[in-house]
Amino acid sequence: MIEFQHVHKSFGGAAAVQDLSLKIPKGEFTVLIGGSGSGKSTTLKMINRLVEHDSGRILFQGEEIRSFKPEDIRRRMGYAIQSIGLFPHWTVEKNIATVPELLGWPAARIRDRVTELLELLDLAPATYRSRYPHQLSGGQQQRVGVARALAVDPEVLLMDEPFGALDPVTRSTLQKEMLRIHKTSGKTIVLVTHDIDEALSLATRIVLLQDGQIVQAGSPTELLTHPANDFVTDFVGRSDIGIKLLGLATVASHTRRGETATGDALPAHTSLREALSTFVARACDRLPVVDEHGQALGVLHFADLWHRAA
Ligand SMILES: Nc1ncnc2c1ncn2[C@@H]1O[C@H](COP(=O)(O)OP(=O)(O)OP(=O)(O)O)[C@@H](O)[C@H]1O
Ligand SMILES: [Mg+2]
Repeated sequence: MIEFQHVHKSFGGAAAVQDLSLKIPKGEFTVLIGGSGSGKSTTLKMINRLVEHDSGRILFQGEEIRSFKPEDIRRRMGYAIQSIGLFPHWTVEKNIATVPELLGWPAARIRDRVTELLELLDLAPATYRSRYPHQLSGGQQQRVGVARALAVDPEVLLMDEPFGALDPVTRSTLQKEMLRIHKTSGKTIVLVTHDIDEALSLATRIVLLQDGQIVQAGSPTELLTHPANDFVTDFVGRSDIGIKLLGLATVASHTRRGETATGDALPAHTSLREALSTFVARACDRLPVVDEHGQALGVLHFADLWHRAA
């Protein structure tokens, strides 16, 4: 759906992105990750032409991105960023309605959509729709930014550290919401983060950048099990790669069906990483597992965890 072919971008003679070639297929959740200054935001902004590339080609649905009008591109691609972005003199409602208004949606449809999005992002519409950005906390502003990016249900979502200023609980709620949106809509999402745990839990594909170049691109499991070099190993966290691998699998895949055990049960969708923590906290080696309806499913054995990590 989006393809970079040997793309370069410099600012005042200094290369920000060098010889970048990357395919972003439709429906993938791609996460760009890397240290500060590695070229993540520049790469993202070249997709919607907020930054113009110097050379190489960037294709959107097979056509060079320069052949689209910037406003058409931005209408088809929602964009959310960590800091700024909200118009300070506009209410929350008007901020979210920016693109729907550009598209000439009727007022009633816009109002309904704003209500729907505020509820989705857990901001009570009656309280928040008429507030101004300065009357919101940083995290609430971020959620409004995400709502605005989703407003017209765009084909592509570009998100630059959209959950940066959030507390861990809200952050994890919004991450789950993004996963749900991705699963149900099949949207193409490109998200920038420097948080490896966020990348591992969201991405279908991770692209690790260093000095404006791709060091490795692959699934979370590939990066953990087949790191291209020491930089990748260090980046994904040399000491807890096993723990992170456990984070990619759920209890369901390791449950011995039909067995029974006593104690508080784990839901089958729990990650093996959480299960490991539970084993240690309870000092036990067997845990009962239940399905989403609370029905007994079987037993997770401590001894089976390593089958995943091996
Ligand atoms: N508008 C600009 N003018 C000059 N230099 C820029 C500009 N935008 C980015 N750069 C430079 O390009 C390089 C890549 O910047 P970029 O913003 O893409 O990094 P990043 O990976 O998003 O970093 P961070 O994690 O800190 O946001 C940096 O060295 C930065 O200083
Ligand atoms: Mg950045």
